[in-house]
Amino acid sequence: MNWLLRLVVLTSAVAAPMEALTAHAADPLQAAVPPAPAASSAEGLGHQLIGVVGCNAVSCHGGSSLVGGEAGAWQLRDTMHRRAYEILFNEVSVAMAKKLDLKNDKGEKIGAHQHARCLACHSSSRDPKPNHGDRFAIEYGVGCESCHGAAGDWIAKHTTRTWKSLSTAQKSDLGFRDLHSLTTRAETCVACHIGSPAATVDHDLIAAGHPRLAFEMSSFHSMLPRHWDASAETQQDPGQEIRLWAIGQAASAKAMADIVGSRAKQAVRNEETHLLPDFAEFDCNACHHNLAEPTLGRPTLRQALGTPRWGSWSVPSAKFLAHGTASEKSLESLLEVMRQSRLRSAPAGEVVTAAQRASDDLANWLHSQEHARYDAAHASQLLHRVIDEKSDTQWQLNWDGQMQRFLAIAAASQSLQRLTGKTPFPPSSDSSALVPLRTRLKYRPDHATPPGYDPSEVDRILADLRKSLVH
Ligand code: HEC
Ligand code: HEC
Ligand code: HEC
Ligand code: HEC
Repeated sequence: MNWLLRLVVLTSAVAAPMEALTAHAADPLQAAVPPAPAASSAEGLGHQLIGVVGCNAVSCHGGSSLVGGEAGAWQLRDTMHRRAYEILFNEVSVAMAKKLDLKNDKGEKIGAHQHARCLACHSSSRDPKPNHGDRFAIEYGVGCESCHGAAGDWIAKHTTRTWKSLSTAQKSDLGFRDLHSLTTRAETCVACHIGSPAATVDHDLIAAGHPRLAFEMSSFHSMLPRHWDASAETQQDPGQEIRLWAIGQAASAKAMADIVGSRAKQAVRNEETHLLPDFAEFDCNACHHNLAEPTLGRPTLRQALGTPRWGSWSVPSAKFLAHGTASEKSLESLLEVMRQSRLRSAPAGEVVTAAQRASDDLANWLHSQEHARYDAAHASQLLHRVIDEKSDTQWQLNWDGQMQRFLAIAAASQSLQRLTGKTPFPPSSDSSALVPLRTRLKYRPDHATPPGYDPSEVDRILADLRKSLVH
């Protein structure tokens, strides 16, 4: 599973500097796109999509300087998002469409590239024949408007002088997303990278071949090729990395609560008393593992046989972070409802209530983080807490738990280094101190778990780190 490998590799990567991008004479974005009837349409809260070509004129975002070169940057560097639609034609997608027996409303077999479910995350419109601006096309994959918001109602206004005087709320009414806000930014990524009630990657999709979605904001953010002035951002907020981590964790846990809550509501509407589990919401390695591996991290005293923990990837870090707040309690109640059901089926009504409460509390917490700043003392305290936390309490003694802990350590130490100018793990440099941990968590591309993975070995490395941490 190469996403895991990437995830581990990327935490050591420093964002590449933004190169000046030259305008291309034969810009593929300028290629003719099939005309679609212009109409006021439905997506992005009723705002019309105009398409990438609508943003990349040379005088707009298609220029060659850093500011002004955003379209080129996306086109040439953000290849993952640009080719997100193309991916729907590859071997894996074709096999998935067959296994999932994808059909349209008329019951005719269709390809992944025509199916709303896949398009929801692999392009800007879930409708294969969208009723949008005449230059819009789904072929551009995850384009500008997937992140910045459907532009039909703000495209003209954002080039005028009055634009800057509009409030965030006024801009948002027009469909524009203010990505300066790390909360909005994280929620934007999470909608596709964790999912939402409107689009999920469930165990059926995964069993058919889809990679597991294991998103963590600070590492994915650092992998995203920047088309904005990232150094100005970190200068202004040197604790950005740890804020991205924290906000991303809360947004991810909120998405998990929203997804399970919406499934439970559907069950109630269908007059079902219980909610069937979606295995993708649980710890994969509780069920999928090499029988020769040590049993550590699977059934333990805390966790009886047959009860893989719900939200094993996306919930524990948020709960750790929310220590002492309402979110901690509501997440615990949600985890408890899911745990008690022992993977059979959870009482749907209870899940609805618990999930709603967790979602509301996390939304409040996210709102409170909007203007929060981490100083060195704050970041250091967090780093100590993460390292000092006993194993198998917040984070389970499995790959998910140890990996999330590593990602927290990586984000906190990077911020601390930026805030103080000193590495928290001398004498070796910060990144090399984390190398043994990273190496131990690394998957081989053809493996679904690190070969011979033993979480207690990771514990030993953590103990060494704890000793070397400068107070
Ligand atoms: C909830 C959003 C979501 C939905 C729904 C979704 N995907 Fe994905 N898909 C993603 C994300 C995000 C990735 C990248 C995962 C990563 O690397 O972390 C991805 C990756 C993939 C990949 C691997 C791409 C590669 O570079 O190897 C394939 C293939 C794929 N998706 C096909 C599909 C198909 C086919 C469907 C519909 C049946 C679908 N996806 C539905 C979000 C989604
Ligand atoms: C994967 C999400 C994503 C996609 C796709 C994307 N952007 Fe961005 N963009 C961001 C983020 C995050 C920022 C940084 C926050 C900010 O500055 O608003 C940003 C910043 C910008 C900025 C700078 C804003 C400023 O105030 O400095 C411009 C302009 C921009 N993007 C234009 C585009 C254009 C044009 C496209 C398509 C060709 C595009 N973006 C595609 C996420 C995205
Ligand atoms: C509309 C859905 C959507 C949104 C919004 C989105 N992504 Fe993605 N992202 C995808 C899909 C789909 C892929 C996989 C595409 C592929 O394999 O070509 C992907 C791939 C990536 C990758 C490469 C992952 C890998 O395994 O190599 C990174 C990094 C990434 N996204 C970061 C982000 C960040 C950060 C944001 C928010 C600023 C964001 N994305 C917003 C859908 C989305
Ligand atoms: C509760 C146990 C359980 C959990 C948790 C679970 N799975 Fe599964 N998985 C199964 C079973 C049983 C099958 C075979 C039936 C099926 O295809 O649904 C399966 C099938 C699969 C397959 C297809 C294997 C094949 O050879 O066709 C993949 C891939 C997979 N799971 C990945 C995952 C991932 C990734 C996760 C975590 C996000 C996960 N599973 C979580 C029980 C589980």
